[in-house]
Amino acid sequence: MSTPLSTAVDVAADPNWWRQAVVYQIYPRSFADANGDGIGDLAGITSRVEYLASLGVDAVWLSPFYPSALADGGYDVDDYRDVDPKLGTLDDFDEMIGALHAAGLKLIVDIVPNHTSNRHEWFRQALAAEPGSAERNRYIFRDGKGPDGAEPPSDWPSMFGGSAWERVPDGQWYLHLFATEQPDLNWDNREVRDDFLTTLRFWADRGVDGFRVDVAHQLVKDLREPFPDRASLDLDNLPHGSHPFEDRDEVHEIYAEWRQVFNEYDPPRTAVAEAWVHASRRARYASPLGLGQAFNFDLLQSDFDAASFRRIITHNLTDARQSGASSTWVFSNHDVVRHATRYGLPAAQGKHQNGHAWLLSGGTSPELDVDLGIRRARAATLLMLALPGSGYLYQGEELGLHEVGDLPADAMQDPAYFRSQGVEKGRDGCRVPLPWTVDGPSFGFGTGTAHLPQPAWFGPESVQAQDDDPSSTLSLYRRALSLRRKLQAAEELEWVDDLGDSVLHFRRPGGWESITNFGAEPVPLPAGVVLTSSPLGDETVLPPDTTAWIS
Ligand code: GLC
Ligand code: CA
Repeated sequence: MSTPLSTAVDVAADPNWWRQAVVYQIYPRSFADANGDGIGDLAGITSRVEYLASLGVDAVWLSPFYPSALADGGYDVDDYRDVDPKLGTLDDFDEMIGALHAAGLKLIVDIVPNHTSNRHEWFRQALAAEPGSAERNRYIFRDGKGPDGAEPPSDWPSMFGGSAWERVPDGQWYLHLFATEQPDLNWDNREVRDDFLTTLRFWADRGVDGFRVDVAHQLVKDLREPFPDRASLDLDNLPHGSHPFEDRDEVHEIYAEWRQVFNEYDPPRTAVAEAWVHASRRARYASPLGLGQAFNFDLLQSDFDAASFRRIITHNLTDARQSGASSTWVFSNHDVVRHATRYGLPAAQGKHQNGHAWLLSGGTSPELDVDLGIRRARAATLLMLALPGSGYLYQGEELGLHEVGDLPADAMQDPAYFRSQGVEKGRDGCRVPLPWTVDGPSFGFGTGTAHLPQPAWFGPESVQAQDDDPSSTLSLYRRALSLRRKLQAAEELEWVDDLGDSVLHFRRPGGWESITNFGAEPVPLPAGVVLTSSPLGDETVLPPDTTAWIS
């Protein structure tokens, strides 16, 4: 383990630990399977704490591990204050958090407040109760339109395709902005608000250090009748805060209450909002009076392009200064095509990101440049890890894993695939269980067959294959994270404009510099290189698609 105990103790005492932390996202069902049933579990995570510590991250963000029928990969929660029996027990949770803390790692858990699952006790009660009852009022039930109310209350589509309304046997309809199995909660109901405060305290009391808040921007809705039709709204030109379901100002009243709960603890619990809102609105979620930090997905949505990266970095650092939060940076998570793959494809045209068409083709077209993708991903990650603020990593990116593009139809699990009737391929390709060993059943993920099929090329990309190889992506992440601990300084960045438009060169306090060559030609490299994202041929030049750290 490379984390010295003294660092662990210092970090634990520091209420600002989150400001420049590197957080590693675990999608628990696909990380490590301790009991061989094909599904990753909490004991599997505990067994890999040493790996996480030696990687050098500061914290783990755990995607939902709550009881769930997995209609949406666990984001359909049956019970917010328990562990899915397929993943373990509350005792396993305590053991896991104990092991993480002992290794100096923090734990952030995912909270899903916009919707429960349709198996949640409240939703069962709502179905059994009368229209207009207190039980139904925890959700958003409405009568339908047209004769016999047989038409949905509005034309609103679900994020995963199809209508956002589902009819129940007595004829009423309920709102689900995501899958049918994810009924939206009514956040105008005080009982709903109080119950989530109980949930936050439940996990904070168990030692959880922070929360990742799922679709944080959608909780509050304009529930006045009649429900607006989507077709009647000019969505691109709605004034901020006036969308019926998204980013309404009143949502911050909820997070102000959550903040009070976070501040009951020492150190205060942290939170990061998943809020897909206009950049100018993000600061409200990141306010110290609210959740404290918010994801910015700008880099994740950008091509590998110097001007675009620079614009994004500059405005996010400005926003962070204004909100009092630190900035967040992320390239990959459980919802998007892995960045190694995005960067190995030609820049996307139109509204979809790189990888969309490629996924639909089953990973055949446009042709993926596997090596270029990894080279650029490594360069981008090294740049990102030198930025002021927190970096969020997604499991497997430290192995340089590509998206699995050729999952067979009968293996698919994502509701986005089923509800769109295959128009969307969904997110399963970044959720394939991790390869730990070069061979063996499920490449060391467990002793059984993994719940999503792993491709043969996972073996050579496994942890075992990369562990002792100094040129591997895993070795690069380890070296970068360990150096970052030493070089990390105040949250400031100064651009150095010396190498042309296709190079991003910046300086951090204390003499730490990062230079990324996005261009097609090598550029001169100053002396003092401590790390490069790819090997240099000549120590005095930085090749294309490469980042160098200088100190
Ligand atoms: C968030 C999650 C995503 C999930 C959705 C609905 O966007 O990241 O995985 O499907 O919320 O909960
Ligand atoms: Ca298991």
